[in-house]
Amino acid sequence: MRILVTGAKGQLGIAVMRELLGKKQDFDFRLMLTVSNDASWNSLYNLMKEDGLLDERAEITTLDIRDYYAVKAALFGFLPDVIINCSAYTAVDDCEDHEEEARAVNETGVKNLALVAKEIDAVLVHISTDYVFDGSGAVPYTEGDKPNPVSAYGRSKALGEKAVTDTLDRYFIIRTAWLYGEGKNFVKTMISLSEKNKTLRVVSDQIGSPTSAVELARFIVYLIQTDKYGIWHGVCDGSTSWYELTKEIMRLMGKEEVEVLPITTEEYPTKAKRPHFSVLSNEKLHSETDFKIKSWKEALKEYISNLS
Ligand SMILES: NC(=O)c1ccc[n+]([C@@H]2O[C@H](COP(=O)([O-])OP(=O)(O)OC[C@H]3O[C@@H](n4cnc5c(N)ncnc54)[C@H](OP(=O)(O)O)[C@@H]3O)[C@@H](O)[C@H]2O)c1
Repeated sequence: MRILVTGAKGQLGIAVMRELLGKKQDFDFRLMLTVSNDASWNSLYNLMKEDGLLDERAEITTLDIRDYYAVKAALFGFLPDVIINCSAYTAVDDCEDHEEEARAVNETGVKNLALVAKEIDAVLVHISTDYVFDGSGAVPYTEGDKPNPVSAYGRSKALGEKAVTDTLDRYFIIRTAWLYGEGKNFVKTMISLSEKNKTLRVVSDQIGSPTSAVELARFIVYLIQTDKYGIWHGVCDGSTSWYELTKEIMRLMGKEEVEVLPITTEEYPTKAKRPHFSVLSNEKLHSETDFKIKSWKEALKEYISNLS
């Protein structure tokens, strides 16, 4: 199988790269890892070198997915069977002032990948988000629920989903949420804040499913070996608030002396509106596959033990 991964230096991209290279005895593949610029090329190369992951079956190249001709050259040059799109404009608040830039990556970039995937008959794996939903309900969202984003980021991601479904038959759209892996994320931010503060005030009225990039990468690598095309939700099992998540992070870090206090969304205003209840149902994952995904607590424990 020939696999091309975009955004390979992002949190999910690194986890997918590790999952594939860790599985190299299990199935035969050639891997093209793409990053958006030379600096990311260097840092991904160094990371792979340090971790002993450089392998003759994996190469790294630069690719800006906003550029249709660059996408065409890369995909026709490598001829992947599967494209895993881990690229995205992910700065949720920034998107409010830069919606066009967000759409260039999250919609046009995805459309470019889908159009060329169609030409070369490749399967596209595209990652989407719980933020395509408005979060006004109280029941976990299923794959069939209609997106109704409340932020520029959510709108750009919903348009990306549409670019895929309008163009391709063979795709996996996987919606995930509250992702943490190697890179900037909520878990690391809370750990770092706890080093300088005795009290942390954290929003308790936004509920979602914290998801480890490692678990999501495992699910992606599972799905690409099937023909179960369509939309999927892929999150760690269970749900919680940012506040409860922070309490669990502090407990696992042995930092019980840090006081974590609940606050409301109104008390912590952000540029982008966030859904109050964006829990994604994993029911399809459980009923239609034999894939086992960890609960958010188990996955968080593993992540934190690997950090220290
Ligand atoms: N993070 C979350 O909490 C979360 C929640 C739900 C869904 N998701 C979705 O999950 C996926 C992975 O997210 P993540 O957290 O791994 O994101 P991330 O760490 O921000 O990585 C995104 C990657 O996209 C690359 N990229 C940006 N613009 C690009 C362009 N024009 N061409 C090519 N690559 C470009 C960046 O490359 P460089 O580093 O080289 O610039 C970066 O490595 C995304 O689709 C995101 O929307 C994330």
